[in-house]
Amino acid sequence: MNACIRAVVRTALVNKLRVYGIMRGYQGMIEDDFKPLTSRSVSNIIQRGGTILKAARSADFMTPQGMEKAYKNLKSHQIDGIVAIGGDGTFKGAAAFCSQYPDIRFMGIPGTIDNDLTGTDYTLGFDTAVNTVIESVDKIRDTAASHDRCFLIEVMGRDSGCIALWSGLAGGAEEILLPEKMTDFDALVRQLEEGKSTNKTSSIIIVAEGEKNGGATEVATKLKERLVHYDTKVTVLGHVQRGGSPTAFDRILAAKFGVWAVEELLRGNQGQMVGIRKGEKHLTPFGQASRDQEPLDLELLRINRILAT
Ligand code: F6P
Repeated sequence: MNACIRAVVRTALVNKLRVYGIMRGYQGMIEDDFKPLTSRSVSNIIQRGGTILKAARSADFMTPQGMEKAYKNLKSHQIDGIVAIGGDGTFKGAAAFCSQYPDIRFMGIPGTIDNDLTGTDYTLGFDTAVNTVIESVDKIRDTAASHDRCFLIEVMGRDSGCIALWSGLAGGAEEILLPEKMTDFDALVRQLEEGKSTNKTSSIIIVAEGEKNGGATEVATKLKERLVHYDTKVTVLGHVQRGGSPTAFDRILAAKFGVWAVEELLRGNQGQMVGIRKGEKHLTPFGQASRDQEPLDLELLRINRILAT
């Protein structure tokens, strides 16, 4: 997000606009928490995770009173364009606000590690999260291999299996368990036993946190009942996946999204999310830029099945 904030600020300044950072998103908009930003305000942040503007959920923003306060504060700073970085909650808020106050123009930028928004092949943070996961998987693999163990590694993704799928394939996992697909325990046990019979001594199973049995701990409990001779361990990676220095891919994506969003505002566009499709800029109206509509790339799962033998 910081690399993207930098891109937005500098593109706007190059185009002779005045720029404010709004602290803690919509909540800061309601509480009049605005900071004038210069080119130097965004120096040395390209490599930092998180966001210098901080983030917050704002229930108040979805009320007419909250929106009115936010509108008055924006007007008092003479702000007429907003670039909002976030997921579908951010865009739902933006869409509701725009329909009430159309003189404030919004462009959205997809920022979520879950990579689950319609209208873009990639969201900001996804590539960094996947790389963080595989760094850990590689390390866990050392113990798994040395001690002949089966590791269940839980990754983020309450509703989306995208991180699990990509990190599972990139990390050489035996199996990938997803929120979008009910886990077939018979097939899983069969696969692990087959692996043993072909001299596989260790296994890595990547489990998305939203897996329907309740995640890695619950899956491990069930597996242990059926695979008594297997030494099974669980690692929950948690919020390490949401921090750290962004990958080159994410920084370049951030640069493109930031520049494109400001340029679209200058062209008079609004109410849309800037995304990337097949390497090209792609605009999606807020109403369609929602979660859960993008089917998972099941080809990745098929390829992993072949390679996990
Ligand atoms: O951004 C979405 C997500 O990464 C989910 O996959 C995860 O469940 C959630 O965030 C956790 O967020 P929080 O810590 O804010 O509850």
